[in-house]
Amino acid sequence: MKRTNPLMEQALKARLHAYAPFSQFKVGAALQAEDGTIYTGCNVENSTYGLTVCAERVAIFKAISEGARRFTALAVVADTRRLTPPCGACRQLIWEFCGNIPVTLTNLKGKTRSYRMKALLPEPFSVKFLEEK
Ligand code: THU
Repeated sequence: MKRTNPLMEQALKARLHAYAPFSQFKVGAALQAEDGTIYTGCNVENSTYGLTVCAERVAIFKAISEGARRFTALAVVADTRRLTPPCGACRQLIWEFCGNIPVTLTNLKGKTRSYRMKALLPEPFSVKFLEEK
């Protein structure tokens, strides 16, 4: 289905700032807080490769560092035919900070699909387990 909304638009804009000289794989993310504020992120790579931070985590850390705590939706954009989903590390952090929010994946052709976080991360580890021991 082809659709667009303000969150996707912000993710598309953020993607333009991606710092991806090593992979050339540019990703944008936009995270909506409960008060409507949108926090954006792009992937930021590094010559060590391993210190690269994904677009989703940049958006989350920007939001958290500015005081936001409750979130309603996330959009992720990459230039792939099959829609690019968040990596495993990002899924864990999205779950921890955002819970079961809708995650909308989009490509540059406007193909889009939404998932609930529960579907992207079944049986998640969470702080609840720390409280059980
Ligand atoms: N990347 C993201 O930013 N988000 C994703 O959902 C998948 C992967 C980035 C990390 C790296 O800079 C590049 O894409 C290739 O893996």
